[in-house]
Amino acid sequence: MNNNPIGIFDSGLGGISVLREMKKILPCENYIYMGDSKNAPYGTKLTSEVYELSKHWVEYFLERNAKAIVIACNTATSAAAARLRKLYTDIPIIGLEPALKPAATKYADTGKKILVLATELTLREDKFQHLLHQYSDKAEILLLPAPGIVELVEADKADSEEMLSYIENLLSPYIVKNISGVVLGCTHFPFAKWAIKKVLGENVEFFDGAEGAAREVLHQLKLHDTLSSSTTPGTIELLNSSDDPDKIDLSQRLLNTVE
Ligand code: DGL
Repeated sequence: MNNNPIGIFDSGLGGISVLREMKKILPCENYIYMGDSKNAPYGTKLTSEVYELSKHWVEYFLERNAKAIVIACNTATSAAAARLRKLYTDIPIIGLEPALKPAATKYADTGKKILVLATELTLREDKFQHLLHQYSDKAEILLLPAPGIVELVEADKADSEEMLSYIENLLSPYIVKNISGVVLGCTHFPFAKWAIKKVLGENVEFFDGAEGAAREVLHQLKLHDTLSSSTTPGTIELLNSSDDPDKIDLSQRLLNTVE
């Protein structure tokens, strides 16, 4: 079982920012990445729709004999992870959630402001509302959906002028608010960090759940005794549900981008 793959999925290409972290922490594992670009975005869908899509991908990875499944999508995690864990009890299902806890803990009682960027669905779901409730008296927390980043990353425009002008329009009202920390609550958003920094300033600090999720995968593999015994780099199978042949090439390029 040890060399069985880890299945990872997202609504599209965002989850590659999680795969990138997993490769650093678990380089000898084999990965199958499924970008559901055909159905992107998830963030503006109903919870029930995102649950059905997520269930489909979990079943796909079970057929592929995955030893762990990573929902590399904050939106799908909030809509589906808890129910899927109850349904498929034999396999660890690891999810992503906006890294509000480390941000609020770091800035507790400092008067510093935190901006949480995520999808509409993530922000309205109980899972995030519960998290917010836990930390809202510790720091000033502002919430903002940013669906345009998802669209631009999917359209191979992560590094474009269009990305910069979208972020300028979105964040210009926040410049005067003096934001100290930005929670990247959607896995597409790390690819727009450069533009966020340009608008909010070089000193803005980012909080991203990817590294924590990768550590949780390591922990779960140890717990289930399914860590790979290999000492050479594992394989990465990049897949996409869309018919667009360029998606795989774009996935590879995003995977190669260094932070
Ligand atoms: N990448 C996803 C997330 O982490 C969602 C993007 C979308 O499809 O709306 O939330």
